[in-house]
Amino acid sequence: MFKQVDTQDLETVEVVVDGEPRKLQAGISVMAALLADGELNSRLSPTSGKPCGPHCLMGVCFECLMEIDGIQRQACTTEIEKEMVINRHLSETGENSHE
Ligand code: FES
Repeated sequence: MFKQVDTQDLETVEVVVDGEPRKLQAGISVMAALLADGELNSRLSPTSGKPCGPHCLMGVCFECLMEIDGIQRQACTTEIEKEMVINRHLSETGENSHE
């Protein structure tokens, strides 16, 4: 049904994610680029305080809200751009999907 795309030759952009420099796939949304790089968490749940991930990926659920260049934005409807600064604030609980 779904086919894995070979990402080896795709163009990338350099961004900063949670304070770390990263190269993510260009030409797609911030959330899609993070997911393609293995990041499943988008923010902390305001009720439980636990990391949560995107649900709809089309601008409806707001589960992908994160700070992008200093503004809270939906990562699934924001195209990734060179030198973006993306903060998910996941480390506030000491949990991070990179660890
Ligand atoms: S994942 Fe639902 S609004 Fe972004």
